[in-house]
Amino acid sequence: MAKVRSQYVCQNCGSAFPQWLGQCPGCKQWNTLAEEVRDRVEEKRGTPASVKGRTARPVAIGDIPAQEGPRIPLSDGELARVLGGGLVPGSITLIGGEPGIGKSTLLLQTALRDPQLRTLYISGEESEHQVRMRAERLGVARNEPHVTGGRSFGDGSPARRSSLAAGHADSCYVLTETNTQNIFRHIEALKPGLVVIDSVQTLHTAALDASPGSVGQVRECTAEIMRFAKTADVPFVLIGHITKDGYIAGPKVLEHMVDCVLQFEGDRDHAYRLLRPLKNRFGSTNELGIYEMHGTGLAAVEDTGRLLLGEREDSPSGVAVCATLEGQRPLLVEVQALVSSAVYGTPQRSATGFDLRRLNMLLAVLEKRCGFRLGQKDVFLNLAGGLRVEEPAIDLAVACAVLSSNVDIPIPMDTVFCGEVGLTGEVRPVARTEQRIAEARKLGFRRMLIAQGGKGAVSAEGITVVPVSRMSEVPALLFG
Ligand code: TYD
Ligand code: MG
Repeated sequence: MAKVRSQYVCQNCGSAFPQWLGQCPGCKQWNTLAEEVRDRVEEKRGTPASVKGRTARPVAIGDIPAQEGPRIPLSDGELARVLGGGLVPGSITLIGGEPGIGKSTLLLQTALRDPQLRTLYISGEESEHQVRMRAERLGVARNEPHVTGGRSFGDGSPARRSSLAAGHADSCYVLTETNTQNIFRHIEALKPGLVVIDSVQTLHTAALDASPGSVGQVRECTAEIMRFAKTADVPFVLIGHITKDGYIAGPKVLEHMVDCVLQFEGDRDHAYRLLRPLKNRFGSTNELGIYEMHGTGLAAVEDTGRLLLGEREDSPSGVAVCATLEGQRPLLVEVQALVSSAVYGTPQRSATGFDLRRLNMLLAVLEKRCGFRLGQKDVFLNLAGGLRVEEPAIDLAVACAVLSSNVDIPIPMDTVFCGEVGLTGEVRPVARTEQRIAEARKLGFRRMLIAQGGKGAVSAEGITVVPVSRMSEVPALLFG
C-alpha cells in the first residue's frame, strides 16, 4: 500500500497545501488549516472512467433525447414554487440557514404532509425521540391558510394534536446514521421517494479521516451523495449550517456541487421566514416563499401584500410605506425612521433591514441636495417585520421617513413610495412599476410617489400616481 500522505486543507475556503501554514494564502484566514488524508481518498475514488476505456464521445445536441422528467409534486406550495414546480428526481437541493430558523421543521413537515411520498429523514443532530417530539408538535395540521396575527409557539391551538395520525406518519422514516455508506445501504433497502439529510455537517465518509463538519468531509460526502443520487434517481435535500459569514460549510464549497441552493432566512424574533433560491438548475431564482412560524409548524403566507404593514390606525411621523418587489412578489414594507438630536459628539446611525452605507449615502444626499441639516442628528432606521430589503426602490421611502421624522410631520397614511435615489438627488425609475402600483391600489393606498420618466409611466384608477424627478421636490409634496 502506498504511503499515506496528508495535506492541509483550509476549513474556510477549501484550498489545499502540502504543509501547515498559520494563515491560509487563499482566503487570508488564520488557523484554518487542518490535516486531511489524501491518498486514501484517491484510492477509493478509483480511476476516472475515461482511463478505463469507457470514454464519452461528442453528441449533436439535437440527438440528445429531450427529457423533461416529471416533477414530484409537494403539498407545500411555497416550497414547490421556489424549487421551480416540485422536486426533480435525482436532484440535490441544499437548504442553508441560521440555527433555529426552522430548517428541520420545514423538511419534517414536508415529509409528514406528503403521505404519497415515502421520505427517509436522516437525522445526525437529533435523536429519534426528538424527531418524534417535533413531529407531534407539527401534528398533521395541513397547510392551513395564513391567519393574520398568528401567535408564537405554544399557543395550544386546536389544530395541535398529541398523536400522529396513521397514514401520514407511516410514510416518514427516521434514521439516525451519519456514515454515508450505511445511509446508501438503507436507501437501497427502503427505496424512499425523498431523502432529507439533517445536516450535511454531521455526515462522514470512511474514505477520509477528517472529523465530520470539516470542509473536506462535507465536500467528499456531498460528492458521494451526488454520485448516488444520480444513479438511484432519488431526490436529496441537504440541510446545511451557515458560518458566521453566511456561507454554507466554507465559501461556495457546496454551492457548486448541488443543483439548487435555497436560503431560509428571517429574524428569529419575528414569525416570518423567507425561502429564497440562490441557485436553481431547474427553475427561476426570482421566486420567494414566505412562511409564518406557528405553534404547529410553518404555514405558507399567500396574501403577502399586507404582511409587513402592521396594524396601522394612526400615522406617527417617521413612517413611510414602500412598494418593493421580492423576487416576483410585490411586498409593501413599512419603513420607520427616528431622527433626534445627537446627545454625544458623534451622531449615531443605525439601520435594521437596510444597508447602513446606503442610509449614510441617502442622509448625505438629503443634506447636500435638499438642504436638511442632518449632520448633527442621530438617525435610526428599521424595516417592520424583520425583513431585509436590498432593492434600491426602497430609497425614496427611506428618505421620506427620515424627512418626516426630522420635521415631525406624519406622511399621509394613504401614500406609498417607490423609487431609487441617486447621488445628485435625482429620483430614478425602478423595474415593474405597474405591478407595484397595482398592489398598492389593491391594499387601499390612494397616492403613490414614483420616479418620473419610468417606462410606461402609469395612471391607474383609484390611485393618484405622482411622478417626481428630484428629491428636493418631495418635501413640498408631502408636508405642504
Ligand atoms: P428548527 O426547525 O429546529 O430550526 P433549525 O433546524 O433551522 O435549527 O427550529 C426552529 C424554531 O422554531 C425552534 O426554536 C422552535 C420553533 N418552533 C415553533 O415555533 N413551532 C413549531 O411547530 C416547531 C416545530 C418549532
Ligand atoms: Mg435543525
